[in-house]
Amino acid sequence: MIDAPHGAVGTRHRAWVEIDHGALIANLAALRRLAGPGKQIIAVVKANAYGHGAVEVSRTLSAAGAERLAVATLSEAAELRAAGIDTPIVLLWGIGHGDVDQVLATGVEPMVDNLEAVDWLEQAADRAGSRIGLHLKVDTGLARQGIEPRGALALATAIAASAHLDLAGTMTHLAAVGEEEAFTDVQLQRMATVLDGMAANGIDPGLVHVAATGALLAGVGGFAGAARPGIGLYGLAPRWADGRAAGLTPALSLHALPLRVFEVAPGTPVGYGLRWSASQTARLATLAIGYGDGWPRHHLNNGFALVRGQRVPMVGAISMDGLVVDVSEVDGVTLDEEFVLIGRQGDQEITADEVATQRRTINYEVTTMLRQRLPRRHVGP
Ligand SMILES: Cc1ncc(COP(=O)(O)O)c(C=O)c1O
Repeated sequence: MIDAPHGAVGTRHRAWVEIDHGALIANLAALRRLAGPGKQIIAVVKANAYGHGAVEVSRTLSAAGAERLAVATLSEAAELRAAGIDTPIVLLWGIGHGDVDQVLATGVEPMVDNLEAVDWLEQAADRAGSRIGLHLKVDTGLARQGIEPRGALALATAIAASAHLDLAGTMTHLAAVGEEEAFTDVQLQRMATVLDGMAANGIDPGLVHVAATGALLAGVGGFAGAARPGIGLYGLAPRWADGRAAGLTPALSLHALPLRVFEVAPGTPVGYGLRWSASQTARLATLAIGYGDGWPRHHLNNGFALVRGQRVPMVGAISMDGLVVDVSEVDGVTLDEEFVLIGRQGDQEITADEVATQRRTINYEVTTMLRQRLPRRHVGP
């Protein structure tokens, strides 16, 4: 067991996140099977690897054969480099003018979707006497980043003609795979047209990548040379898909120990705003996890934990640093009893999807918002 640098697990930490690296490796293998033979995997580890711990996850996935990593920001790339990770990194969210030195320092392959960025990078690479690989992003319909298809050929031509830049890849991102098939087809067609135009003009697009987890699960985007999954590596899937059926296993679980176990008389109000009262004598436990850890106030009288393999309800408001559960139905809960807020205990399970439904959000947000204050325990294999 390794503890992440963000806080040693000790007596002061009564709540923690556990990451199963065996599951990460198995999920990478499952996604690789879906991608098909000969395809590369660009493992998306942005936002602290969706809350799982970017450095440790990147080490494991790189060792397990992920050909590239992908992050959103240069600071995320710098964190991986500082930890000694030398796997190629794609910078998914592009750069500003002031970023070029850090691009060189980290050796990332930035996404580009405009000529200005290409010019900045060309000048920086020229000054440094080095080369920079770029990933040209085409906006085929997500309408967020990327160059419109009609401008893509000119941008690719400029990169191909530059003295110090390489077109390492050409990419797009799908907006509604698994949900809007017709729209997905339009996006894929636009991408195919761009690639045909590049081929007709003798431009090598580099590594083509289109599919994130959803596309892998839906079986689209297979013409590309690489897939770019994030959520599937962590064993979860987009809402419309069944990750378990696809062989994915959640890697993250969330645990807490009680700080206090106590009894209250009927009618005793609990927590800020007195939002819950015991209807009869109740036995309560205070867990040291709150919205300051990324367990939000949506769970006011609306959430569960597992203890001794049984479900117990959260009662009252969530505090910044703690929450209260009603353990009246569970015998013998002590201060050493481990509670699970996400994960399995006995034959019970609380999934990130269940939690997401309670919050009216998606599983991505549930794991990603777990703050660094919660130590990560990295286990196995
Ligand atoms: C550009 C890009 N590619 C790939 C991914 C990974 O997507 P997923 O986590 O659905 O696999 C993301 C996630 O936000 C993304 O923004």
